[in-house]
Amino acid sequence: MSTEKKISVDAGGGNRGSFTGKIGFVLAAAGSAVGLGNIWRFPYLAAKYGGGIFLLVYILLSVTFGFTLMVAEIAIGRKTGQSPIGAFRALDKRFTFIGVLGAVVPMLILPYYSVIGGWVTKYAFGFMTGHMTEMATNIGESTYFGMYISNVWEPIGWFALFMGATALIVLFGVQKGVEKVSKVMMPVLVVLMIFIVIYSFCTTDNVWEGVVYYLKPDFSKFTYMTVVAAMGQLFYSMSLAMGIMITFGSYMKKDISIENSAHQIEIFDTGIAFLAGLMIVPACVAYDPSQLTKGPGLMFGVLPKVFDNMFGGAFIGTVFFLMVLLAALTSSISLMETVVSTVQDKWKLSRRVSCLIVFGISILLGVLSCLGYSAWDDILVFGKFAILDFFDFVTNSVMMPIIALCTCIFVSFILKPSVVIDEISLSGRFRLKGMFSVIIRYIAPVCLLVILVFAILEGVGVITV
Ligand code: TRP
Repeated sequence: MSTEKKISVDAGGGNRGSFTGKIGFVLAAAGSAVGLGNIWRFPYLAAKYGGGIFLLVYILLSVTFGFTLMVAEIAIGRKTGQSPIGAFRALDKRFTFIGVLGAVVPMLILPYYSVIGGWVTKYAFGFMTGHMTEMATNIGESTYFGMYISNVWEPIGWFALFMGATALIVLFGVQKGVEKVSKVMMPVLVVLMIFIVIYSFCTTDNVWEGVVYYLKPDFSKFTYMTVVAAMGQLFYSMSLAMGIMITFGSYMKKDISIENSAHQIEIFDTGIAFLAGLMIVPACVAYDPSQLTKGPGLMFGVLPKVFDNMFGGAFIGTVFFLMVLLAALTSSISLMETVVSTVQDKWKLSRRVSCLIVFGISILLGVLSCLGYSAWDDILVFGKFAILDFFDFVTNSVMMPIIALCTCIFVSFILKPSVVIDEISLSGRFRLKGMFSVIIRYIAPVCLLVILVFAILEGVGVITV
């Protein structure tokens, strides 16, 4: 994400800076990709949608669809040298709407992403101030987390703090400092997760039952929702289908391999998600299997119990939540930066005013998301979604598949895959050219359409799993 400032200065064309060196691009893109999607969202989906079968479907989709869409987006960005709206406009005016749709997605994600960022902040602070055991203890039927989010004001307060920090960093353009810190923190996070996994595997009774649940595909648990959920997660986690990779591509030098970079981002992103799942899902089975289907609260319900049973858990838990907080912050900064530069370009506003507008809308939508778990928990959109879950559903299961579908159709029939292939071949032979062509032309459009229809029917309650 080392280009955030350049993005806002240059969005709309002109002289674009580029990433220095080979690793610059991958690090920047991976920095934006790795966040709460990997650590918070992936484990709860895996737990909810059948463990091993979800993992298998996710990995298969990631190396086929994920790869195809990622190289297509990066190539479009690099070819046009523009941010998404300008890129589609430059290639074909009629398809500008894909860029516009893509620009709306981060605006809808940012608020609820920051609500979860607020939860992480609360937990980091709670661990730091010695409340670990309290956070690890169930109160009657409910976990501490369940009680916590039913408060009206506290979650709003932590959300506002997280959102405010994000906004200040974007406003003053000091992302660079945060990135530097986070580059050191990322490896610490990975090492810490490996340590936690090993520790809990060695010391927790019954943990292997959960390991089997997480790793062994149980085909009887396969439903269309496994695919819908895995596909949505793929877009979310790799920051696809919202123009982000187009923007990154526009800063990429011509001699850097798009194909290799996409593989590296994919492996890194999926690896961290896998590890997070390994840390959370088996522990959940061991401590409290009834939590498996709980959804968004999973990580917060399970991890305090893991740390509470660990020697030095208060310290390790504190460091862990602080690292996650940083990973969340780099992603929220990147999300906000994207929205701010779109607003700035679109309405020709100053950076400060754009920041204020985006901040205002985010606070409004974020507060709604918080209230959806507390004062307004009787409001269920389509009879099933809490407000936060609804934003999550609309972006990941509806808007992103639509954008991905349109992108595939655009590349296949308007632009022609050969244009993307030529762009990718600039830095050497495109090894997976055959797979790319078949997926983008035939498999992806058909599957995306089917997934979209199922997701919508399921969402509005016409069909149920
Ligand atoms: N991929 C990020 C994560 O896993 C979330 C995200 C989605 C994001 N879209 C983004 C981050 C755009 C930065 C920019 O947490």
